[in-house]
Amino acid sequence: MIHGHISAWLLALILFVVALFLHKGGKEKGAKIVKMILRVLYLLIIATGVGLLFSVYKIDVWYILKAVVGLWIIGLFEMILSRVANNRRTSVFWIQFVIAWVLVLYLGGRLPMSFLNP
Ligand code: HEM
Repeated sequence: MIHGHISAWLLALILFVVALFLHKGGKEKGAKIVKMILRVLYLLIIATGVGLLFSVYKIDVWYILKAVVGLWIIGLFEMILSRVANNRRTSVFWIQFVIAWVLVLYLGGRLPMSFLNP
């Protein structure tokens, strides 16, 4: 489950960057397709995340925080891509994006199933 979770968000991050470049290159059709695949990945990220939550013996506040920040990142993926598509400012969302990633890696790394914990 944890590997499915990591593979899903890693792939989502890569496709997010691909969609950004497609937008910048004016390839709207390609960007649209990549965004559709991204949305399926969101579901996979959430499904594996919830699956992980269910496999935990006792869910404490760190798990809840981890899940909330995970959902925040998914929201930011969507916000940034839709604002880029509409040529609107994204700076506020990029700042949140950096903060959310630092938090999710910290929280994910601190919880027991992390590959950072032997
Ligand atoms: C883009 C969104 C997300 C990212 C980038 C992300 C990232 C991570 C990372 C880095 C880990 C630690 C993996 C490891 O070090 O082996 C992890 C674990 C986990 N994630 Fe997510 N996650 C996201 C979304 C979610 C969501 C939406 C949920 C819940 C609904 C969730 C629940 C969990 C749980 C329960 C764990 C296991 C923690 C443990 O016991 O070690 N994640 N995630």
